[in-house]
Amino acid sequence: MGSYGFGMMIDKLRKSPKKIVFTEGTDPRILEAASRLLAGTFLSPVLVGNQDEIQKAAEDSAFNIRGAEIIDPMNFEKIDTMVDLFVELRKNKGMTPEKAREMLKSANYFGTMLVKMGYADALLGGATYTTADTVRPALQLIKTKPENKIVSSVYILIRPSATGDNEVLAMADCAININPSEDDLVEIAGETMQCARIFGIDPKVAFLSYSTLGSGTGETVDKMRNAANRTKALYPDTVIDGEMQFDAAVSPKVASTKCPNSPVGGRANTFIFPDINAGNIGYKIAQRLGHFEAYGPILLGLNAPINDLSRGCNAAEVYSMAIITAALA
Ligand SMILES: CC(C)(COP(=O)(O)OP(=O)(O)OC[C@H]1O[C@@H](n2cnc3c(N)ncnc32)[C@H](O)[C@@H]1OP(=O)(O)O)[C@@H](O)C(=O)NCCC(=O)NCCS
Repeated sequence: MGSYGFGMMIDKLRKSPKKIVFTEGTDPRILEAASRLLAGTFLSPVLVGNQDEIQKAAEDSAFNIRGAEIIDPMNFEKIDTMVDLFVELRKNKGMTPEKAREMLKSANYFGTMLVKMGYADALLGGATYTTADTVRPALQLIKTKPENKIVSSVYILIRPSATGDNEVLAMADCAININPSEDDLVEIAGETMQCARIFGIDPKVAFLSYSTLGSGTGETVDKMRNAANRTKALYPDTVIDGEMQFDAAVSPKVASTKCPNSPVGGRANTFIFPDINAGNIGYKIAQRLGHFEAYGPILLGLNAPINDLSRGCNAAEVYSMAIITAALA
């Protein structure tokens, strides 16, 4: 990772240990990550699920989860308080105590409410839930920070190098906003560059398109150009440009022909995509063909750190994402 590596995140957590909720308490990948976390002392796992089922799953997969806090939605002592708060939070959506009680049987809603009620600092889910099912309770109950209009997301991509000088990139929004507006893109870029800095990136931000500085035309070209210009005006000290094609953004040779005067051309490390199709496909190409490790989606703009795992994740990714999530708390 960049200058802000896992070591630094762990050091930060050691100074101020946190609790993280895992909504899928019986999943072997979660249990393996939880057993690794329990061996450290900086991040305590809270496993949501039935005590016996979780213990049996841990025994079956031979992971030691002694000391893990297990909370069963079916048997939670503060369930009445949780139902009342849930109804209060969703009162203008016609929420009733009966409906809330039913929804709280689902670990994704229950786990999110544990964070809301302060039982834990952060949440990681999505090993079996879809992104939408992990993120929706957070959007509805945790909500955006007062200064934000939307929740968005970033992937941090790391290509390890033998010399230790890892290549670190940020890509957004590859997972949440399906067709971001110009306003959304300005906010996504602002949040993304802030998060990129936490990971040691000095952001050089490219607003990506099929056109480079006016070479092509179209509605989405205008959207990316306008968003780039507005972001430049908002953050005059950050290196930002667009619209530009991906090759112009990363290849100095291509940039010397397509955008020779661009401060970003050929050296971009922070990429803003026009929509979720481009973003999701783009980061996966970097991951699968470019051999970058992908960390994310890291949600941006929420009132509490809640993150989503890919359903194809492994235990090492769960462990890393848990540390990243809690360190951002
Ligand atoms: C994020 C997502 C799940 C929200 O979808 P949804 O739940 O159908 O959205 P809704 O319009 O019903 O909104 C539900 C709530 O979330 C809020 N919301 C939706 N998108 C939001 C956003 N980007 N930021 C903040 N709040 C948002 C809505 O305002 C609404 O709040 P309310 O109920 O308090 O009024 C949806 O945008 C999505 O599916 N994105 C793609 C996810 C995906 O498949 N990613 C690819 C794999 S990584």
